[in-house]
Amino acid sequence: MNVLVVGSGGREHALCWALGRSASVENLYCAPGNGGIADVAQCVDIDGEDFSALIGFCKSESIGFVVVGPEAPLVAGLVDALTGAGIKAFGPDAAAAVLEGSKGFMKDLCAKYDIPTAAYARFTDAEAAKSYVRDQCLPIVIKADGLAAGKGVVIARSKDEAEDTINDILGGRFGSAGAEIVIEEFLRGEEASCFALVDGTSVLMLASAQDHKAVGDGDTGPNTGGMGAYSPAPIVDAAMERKVLDTIIRPTVAAMAAEGRPYKGVLFAGLMIDGGEPKLLEYNIRFGDPECQVLMSRLDSDLLPLLLATCDGTLDRIQPSWKPETALVVVMAARGYPGAYEKGSEIYNLNAANDLPDVTVFHAGTAKSNGAVIATGGRVLGVTALGRSVASAQQRAYEAVGVIDWPEGFCRTDIGWRAVARR
Ligand code: AMP
Ligand code: GLY
Repeated sequence: MNVLVVGSGGREHALCWALGRSASVENLYCAPGNGGIADVAQCVDIDGEDFSALIGFCKSESIGFVVVGPEAPLVAGLVDALTGAGIKAFGPDAAAAVLEGSKGFMKDLCAKYDIPTAAYARFTDAEAAKSYVRDQCLPIVIKADGLAAGKGVVIARSKDEAEDTINDILGGRFGSAGAEIVIEEFLRGEEASCFALVDGTSVLMLASAQDHKAVGDGDTGPNTGGMGAYSPAPIVDAAMERKVLDTIIRPTVAAMAAEGRPYKGVLFAGLMIDGGEPKLLEYNIRFGDPECQVLMSRLDSDLLPLLLATCDGTLDRIQPSWKPETALVVVMAARGYPGAYEKGSEIYNLNAANDLPDVTVFHAGTAKSNGAVIATGGRVLGVTALGRSVASAQQRAYEAVGVIDWPEGFCRTDIGWRAVARR
């Protein structure tokens, strides 16, 4: 079967890396891909949001299956367009993708079906939002309703900050994604994520992970798309996983079906766990980035049949196997990220790092130019290692980071600290 992956990040490199090892994948393509993906798939220069060009490519290259990586094309209806053109595609349709595309929709669904989450209210009017905030405790969480590339959430620690944020978001800082806001109770506890495949009715739990969103060591500084992650998450033991499935994921899948929006694809639940009780922070309708890198490193089964079963409604007949090790990824980013950063610097010694035992270097923002690897993004590399414990995976990943020669890049030096401290 010929397969096309849509996207250009570390997540898509990890998906291509896994699919490239599948016995049933004949030709593997990625649109648009990146410098690392080019080693495992043929990159085609088509943007993920150019639906007609993607459909045309699928027809001309006899693509039997498309795997959509990022949220934006999913929310915009890429899977609907592909399916409508007779092309099988992995990911939710637009009606189901609203679970990530509108935080207000997600909160209303939780309220209607009794799924544990933070108390909330929805607003389009700034004065009404401010008067609501006056009666709430601090800190308080303010979110743009729509997609804002991970930047649409503010934890306001004072009423002034809350009012400024309300003005800012409703005033158009995120364009139409901020035409409505959700204001939420601040939850305390430890964050973790659970990833499951869902075929409309059946749920197949994949794995748990924890990521580090803040740019600086000790989880300080502004939030990013994620500076590192590990899987499994020690806080999600078997009992917690069952609780998350029974109280959050299964009720959501049933609710989406009852609402006439059956969910098919990977469901990524962001959780806050406090006193042994999980609450839903958010849903994402895609693999996490960099969480996908650690998930794919641990997956011992062929990925393709799992993704096909998700589309075909046959997840109840398949069971993946996982490596016993823990995987940990350290993200290397361009200096300045998540603020302004330079593009175009050259990265050396990548092959030496990639050749270390149990290490895979995934590319997130690179291009190849005359054989050289050039940084082209904010998050640039995901240095991933397997180990018998979080501590050993961490040690291996940082050994590989030490081999990579890229003076214009930086990384956090403490990915996994919480899990290491727990031991
Ligand atoms: P979200 O994109 O909704 O997951 O929010 C991004 C990050 O903001 C989360 O990973 C949390 O760290 C934080 N966050 C979001 N909602 C809440 C909440 N209700 N209470 C505490 N922290 C939150
Ligand atoms: N790393 C968090 C995300 O992919 O949303």
